[in-house]
Amino acid sequence: MKLAVAGTGYVGLVAGVCFAEVGHDVTCVDVDKNKVELMESGRSPIFETGLEELMRKNYALGRLHYTIDYKNAYKDADAIFIGVGTPERPDGSANLSYIATVSRQIAESVERDCLVVVKSTVPVGTNDKVEQFIRDFLVKDVTVEVASNPEFLAQGSAVHDTLHAARIIIGTESKQAEETLMKIYEPFQLPIVSVSRRSAEMTKYAANDFLALKISYMNDIANLCELVGANIEDVAKGMSYDARIGANFLKAGIGYGGSCFPKDTKALKFLAEQAGYRLETVEAAVEVNARQKTRLFQKASNRMITFEGLKVAVLGLSFKPGTDDLREAPSIDNVELLLAYGAEVCAYDPVAMDNFKKKYPEGMKGRGKISYVQQPEEALKGANICFVFTEWKEIKEIGADTFKRLMQTPLVYDGRNIYDLKSMKEYGVEYYSIGR
Ligand code: UDX
Repeated sequence: MKLAVAGTGYVGLVAGVCFAEVGHDVTCVDVDKNKVELMESGRSPIFETGLEELMRKNYALGRLHYTIDYKNAYKDADAIFIGVGTPERPDGSANLSYIATVSRQIAESVERDCLVVVKSTVPVGTNDKVEQFIRDFLVKDVTVEVASNPEFLAQGSAVHDTLHAARIIIGTESKQAEETLMKIYEPFQLPIVSVSRRSAEMTKYAANDFLALKISYMNDIANLCELVGANIEDVAKGMSYDARIGANFLKAGIGYGGSCFPKDTKALKFLAEQAGYRLETVEAAVEVNARQKTRLFQKASNRMITFEGLKVAVLGLSFKPGTDDLREAPSIDNVELLLAYGAEVCAYDPVAMDNFKKKYPEGMKGRGKISYVQQPEEALKGANICFVFTEWKEIKEIGADTFKRLMQTPLVYDGRNIYDLKSMKEYGVEYYSIGR
């Protein structure tokens, strides 16, 4: 089928490339000419395992195109997918201005009946409005229907998550729209859950917020474990055998970050308030997460007289491994605090350092100072404290002996529970992690 995809971020580009991979003819539209040229040269604007390989393959096969010319891309498409961002507004609500812009462009461009599919995460009821908006501005006498098809991919495994999704959610209001989406997804051979448009929109938030809640719950229990002398990892293991609980998303740590959980929890809370309902479970998840992010810093500040002039190794900057994304990363809150308290931060991350440097250029910042190194060992050399914020393989592999040998005072705060308690003790490293 002939498909167009608006937006070439995580959602749009990955969807477009995967649609091409299963045989559809796909045109990815973006407003940024440089981005289009970059993609035409076979390079991806986002860091995502396996994506460039599929981009090159499908571009060479002639079934994947990139353009800024939205009119041509939309005019005769069977379906147009919207995968643009819905960033968080200061009040926690979702900003829909990119969706509105694309909707207007679609209305002005389509020359035949077509289905518009919203992949972006949008508040419940938005698709009804998008449909009305497009119909209001249609130039040609054609029929445009809107469907919801939320995305559940996780960064770092986006291609795999799309090609092997646990399920595809489609939300439609007509048999025809349902059939079109079924046909588009048929080659993926995945379970499809077909529901109403509003239920599809709600499913996305409910699923994401449930996972955020699961993490916050485990972090809450982990904090309690510390106080009562239990070990969260043993507790999680014991819980995981219960099929009703499951083994995933039970890892306690420094709190969730990324582009989805923080934004979607706040957006659902906002949506509930608008509807006159207090969503207390989600509110609690948000609060616990905010506290959790700086928990290790608080612990360290209780232990030290000052951070002034101390060399602090920061290992891991991205919100999780496998991505260079820093959105809502716990590293930011902590580095910000460390610098404000006068620490000399020496940071390492295998891929996110360049992004971090844009926010915190090398040199003085506040009362502190920040520098970057290419190897974790360099950061540890002569350090007084080490904080671990991301469980990258390179960081996990550091042995207790290395902390002991390289640090001036071997004091480690691990936000990801990646080191062995016994071996840290054996080597005389003063070691704090979460809930152990
Ligand atoms: C998430 C969802 O997994 C995905 O389905 C949705 O579409 C978008 O949001 P993503 O943000 O890419 O994906 O990453 P994910 O791997 O889910 O991790 C999110 C955050 O939770 C990370 O900061 C991670 O470190 C944290 N996390 C995850 C935990 O602290 N403990 C866990 O057990 C799992």
